[in-house]
Amino acid sequence: MNCNYFGKCGSCTLHDYTYEEQLEKKVSLIKKDFGLSDIDIIKSESKNFRYRAEFRIYHDDSGISYAMNSFEKRALKIDECHIVSPLISTLMIKLLELVKDNHILKHKLFAVEFLTSTTDEAIITLIYHKKLDDSWKEEAKKALLSLHSNIIGRSRGIKIVVDKDYIHEKLTIFGKTYKYKVLDTGFTQPNPKVNQKMIEWVIKNINPLPNSNLLELYCGLGNFTLPLSKEFDKVLATEVSKASIKSANENVMLNKIDNIKFVRLSAQELVEAMDKKREFNRLKDINLDDYNFTHVFVDPPRAGVDEKSCEFLKRFENIIYISCNPKTLKRDLERLKEYEIVRFATFDQFAYTSHIECGVILRRIS
Ligand SMILES: C[S@@+](CC[C@H](N)C(=O)[O-])C[C@H]1O[C@@H](n2cnc3c(N)ncnc32)[C@H](O)[C@@H]1O
Repeated sequence: MNCNYFGKCGSCTLHDYTYEEQLEKKVSLIKKDFGLSDIDIIKSESKNFRYRAEFRIYHDDSGISYAMNSFEKRALKIDECHIVSPLISTLMIKLLELVKDNHILKHKLFAVEFLTSTTDEAIITLIYHKKLDDSWKEEAKKALLSLHSNIIGRSRGIKIVVDKDYIHEKLTIFGKTYKYKVLDTGFTQPNPKVNQKMIEWVIKNINPLPNSNLLELYCGLGNFTLPLSKEFDKVLATEVSKASIKSANENVMLNKIDNIKFVRLSAQELVEAMDKKREFNRLKDINLDDYNFTHVFVDPPRAGVDEKSCEFLKRFENIIYISCNPKTLKRDLERLKEYEIVRFATFDQFAYTSHIECGVILRRIS
């Protein structure tokens, strides 16, 4: 891939290597860091792989343009981005055309977020340093008609939605298609093709016996939960975000799955509930003693799993750990010394950056 902004835009830090070279560098660092010689490598597409993206809006005498931070942390005007999804690429151009001559939409606009899906649905969130009123809403409705995209206006304490604040995503996992409702807030995996392969990698590398149950922490909107539920008798999935649990509950119905219970609980609250140290109204219809958890699945934020929750993971025979930060993964694996690595993978969700996602299947050493 070639980009006019390589070497200037601070987003693609690995711009001076081909895709294969950068992947090779990242993978060898991981192998060295974790002392492993044989790991699975899941590649990204080399362009148009990011299905959500955020740009600043730069205003000057020549009008408005998109901007990214340069390596020197200054605004760098850009008019295209090759790593974003084909739909974001198209919408970037159309939106700018529309906004540049529209005072109401343009005035005090300082950032734009695009969220798209592989089903070609989109939400464009326009973020302002001003109050939004009915005249803004009228203009946003016209924009919706010409862009065929949901538009959200945000400014401090205000959110105006035209027409919807969600889109649908479809993932096909080993031939079965799962449909997800994705809200504008709440976590989503940025690279859907790698995401699909991550889920398949997990399923391929666990072999639960009949009647096994899965406990999931940090489940988001049920991205992994829905396909994994096919492998287990029952699943209990937990997550701290209210918005994500709302989506997860809708997703379970959308896919007519009946063996998953989603509960809004932080990892720390879950530990307290399992230890019967605290009662939660949110668990009133669930008897935790009815589960036979053979596997625990975690996909924490960059901070990794906190020490107490990591200790809690040791109650389970099998741990599946997806990590977006090798540093905290390494720390947590050191805390889980009683486990052996059954399989380790790198998932290149964030091509052209030094970030890499890892997956580890762990089994308690008997
Ligand atoms: C990396 S995302 C993974 C989400 C999901 N597994 C997916 O694939 O979309 C991490 C998730 O952890 C949630 N989270 C953050 N802190 C948490 C905590 N202390 N306890 C439980 N969930 C937490 C976030 O809201 C987010 O949904």
